[in-house]
Amino acid sequence: MIYARIAGTGSYLPGEPVSNDDLVKRGIDTSDEWIVSRSGIRSRHLAAADTGASDLARVAAERAIEAAGCEAEDIDLIIVATSTPDYIFPSTAALVQSKLGIRNGGAAFDVQAVCSGFIYALSVAEKFIRSGSNKRALVIGAEVFSRILDWSDRGTCVLFGDGAGAVVLEASERPGILASALHADGSHHPILCVPGTVASGQVIGDPFLRMDGQAVFKFAVKVLGDVANEVLDAAGVQASSVDWLIPHQANIRIIQATAKRLGVPMERVVTTLDHHGNTSAASIPLALDEAVRAGRLRPGHRIVVEGVGGGFTWGAALIDF
Ligand code: ACO
Repeated sequence: MIYARIAGTGSYLPGEPVSNDDLVKRGIDTSDEWIVSRSGIRSRHLAAADTGASDLARVAAERAIEAAGCEAEDIDLIIVATSTPDYIFPSTAALVQSKLGIRNGGAAFDVQAVCSGFIYALSVAEKFIRSGSNKRALVIGAEVFSRILDWSDRGTCVLFGDGAGAVVLEASERPGILASALHADGSHHPILCVPGTVASGQVIGDPFLRMDGQAVFKFAVKVLGDVANEVLDAAGVQASSVDWLIPHQANIRIIQATAKRLGVPMERVVTTLDHHGNTSAASIPLALDEAVRAGRLRPGHRIVVEGVGGGFTWGAALIDF
């Protein structure tokens, strides 16, 4: 039997942290107290204007490849989860492949599932590996969400940040990903969307992120609890035997409510949103890599990663690290 295991992790955050007070100094009508009490976010990183998602992804990928002890040429599949690609096409994954110096490589493509994107990409890569068609995949979440924020909408612009995280997923005789589940319900698309596009050289519609925060909050808490239980049940594993819950980093109150529903104490939940903000598809691999490099998440630990995002989409994976 062929399984898929995480062999290495990497991440990258652009520039210096931008604090809540820095946002106030930039003219946003908000306060550190409001942002921290409603979301748990204290700072985020914002990419320079000439930096694209593929630039952030390249650095995260190089770090994951180094951690996995392989070479870029050993990668035969690249999947990038992003909602803020460099271009309409080619895919960000194709650009990352080029920036890593891989020529005549395996498949490279993007997946679009907003904040669930990394879970979607991980699950797709796992299926490629378990089918025997690929041996070593780069799975990346990379975002420059600052590009799609309306900086005059204080209800959304304070919540997000830029960054990238990556894992090398490789074929193994030992189980790594024990179970995964993906879901979507497109009927909820109006509560979180960027309802615009480009046509005939013009922006058609609204090019900025729009959100009904309270509707998103309720939906997220429900499905994150449900989908974590789904993968635990599928593998016959109790929540009490999970070493780390690594949820999408949207809002500390969503994370606390989800952990409570699952009966996982906050000491076993990886949280990075206080210093990353919500980095959408990048948030889970960023948190994963930070926990690994801090020595908290170690080989042999059992983890649940889970995300929810625009679409609406949601998903989870149970992993032996
Ligand atoms: N600073 C100061 N005041 C603000 C700000 C701000 N940045 N933003 C909004 N306010 C004000 C509003 O104007 C309003 O004032 P009013 O009462 O005078 O009209 C007041 O704060 C309350 O506004 P609400 O939008 O009702 O605030 P709410 O308590 O719902 O909190 C929040 C908003 C934090 C977005 C909350 O709804 C939430 O946590 N939602 C979850 C959404 C989320 O986490 N999204 C992340 C992206 S989705 C994802 O990743 C899955």
